[in-house]
Amino acid sequence: MLDMADELLLLNPGPVPLSPDVRSAMAEPMVSHRSAAFEADFERAQSGLRYIFETGSVDGSRTATGGTPLLLMGTASLAMEAAVSNLVGPEDTVVALENGKFGRRFRRIAERYATVRTVAAEWGDSFDLDRVKAAIDDDVDLVTMVHNETSTGVLNPVAAVGDVAAAVDARFVVDGVTSIGGDAFHLDEWGVDLAVTDAQKALASPPGISAIYLAEGRESALEPDNGPFYTDLVRHVEKAADNQTPFTSAVPLVRGMATALEEIQAETMPARIARHRAQARAFRAAFAAMDLERFPTIEAPSAMSNTVTAIELPPSVKSDAEAFFAAVAEQNVSISGGQGHLGGDIFRVSNMGNLTDDDIRRGIRAVGEALRSVDWGVDIEGALAAADDELEA
Ligand SMILES: Cc1ncc(COP(=O)(O)O)c(C=O)c1O
Repeated sequence: MLDMADELLLLNPGPVPLSPDVRSAMAEPMVSHRSAAFEADFERAQSGLRYIFETGSVDGSRTATGGTPLLLMGTASLAMEAAVSNLVGPEDTVVALENGKFGRRFRRIAERYATVRTVAAEWGDSFDLDRVKAAIDDDVDLVTMVHNETSTGVLNPVAAVGDVAAAVDARFVVDGVTSIGGDAFHLDEWGVDLAVTDAQKALASPPGISAIYLAEGRESALEPDNGPFYTDLVRHVEKAADNQTPFTSAVPLVRGMATALEEIQAETMPARIARHRAQARAFRAAFAAMDLERFPTIEAPSAMSNTVTAIELPPSVKSDAEAFFAAVAEQNVSISGGQGHLGGDIFRVSNMGNLTDDDIRRGIRAVGEALRSVDWGVDIEGALAAADDELEA
């Protein structure tokens, strides 16, 4: 059961495992952030980001054109703040949709820059679209939402909310941190003005940097004087045209990301989305075969996440959740517990990045063995067979 010879398997929802080439890219000798060598790496990363943001479809058709991808030297929380602070000022009204930790983060960020109306649902529940429609009236300047709510495993309905925002001509900013690069994301069709993603999630890049995509023609909506100096997006757009950022770039991280994005292009987005969906189905089938309940309550048009699976711990396991998590960790597998008030109630596994089907099987076995060790009897072979049905479908 315990095989420490196996490399640590990261199934927590980011950072995800890095490929050998990405690790080597980060270990190359340092260069100046103002050198031609860095600009070449930046250009590779920009071109990879353009591919990922503009090809978020299951069939490889274009989902956006003509916009501007931008690399930011901080994680997605910085990018979320950059998005909001460059698009609104103190006189403006933001509607923030909140049904998990990251929706809450967007709301808290927006409260620093504008007046905020919150449309909340319990963490793990779907939004009531009638309440969303009622909140987004003509006074609203900006709507924020999270596509894939990592804290609960819910895939929120961006298309439906985008229609409501468009009807009142409000800007629409979407956190696609755990969907973009792993699941479908139709930027233009959904009316997204600005999308945010993180390096260390579905892009399988090293943590520390993030990216945004400003839809075509939206530069004129930027109000840089309102926001932080460091994330003045007008300045970032100008510098990106020269394959630079305004300040000192994180040279090894940009190189790592450039390489990771080339690997995604080699796999192709349609193949990557299909793989992520099959692996998420495999996790769901395996845990159902272990008689475990999914955590989120999904009502259309919301859906189950295809990148993060959240499972309710059985009552007897909840009472000693630490023993369960320790038993998973002993197998050199990293999964996550619940965030905020969900700590000790749920566990979460990610299938983001470049995981193989054998990695998924190893994760299922690790969870099964850990459950057995805390006296929750499970049929591990049955769970693996259920997973295989999905992986081999
Ligand atoms: C949906 C979502 N948004 C934003 C973030 C923020 O990321 P970071 O902590 O890298 O800033 C995360 C991180 O897990 C996330 O899952």
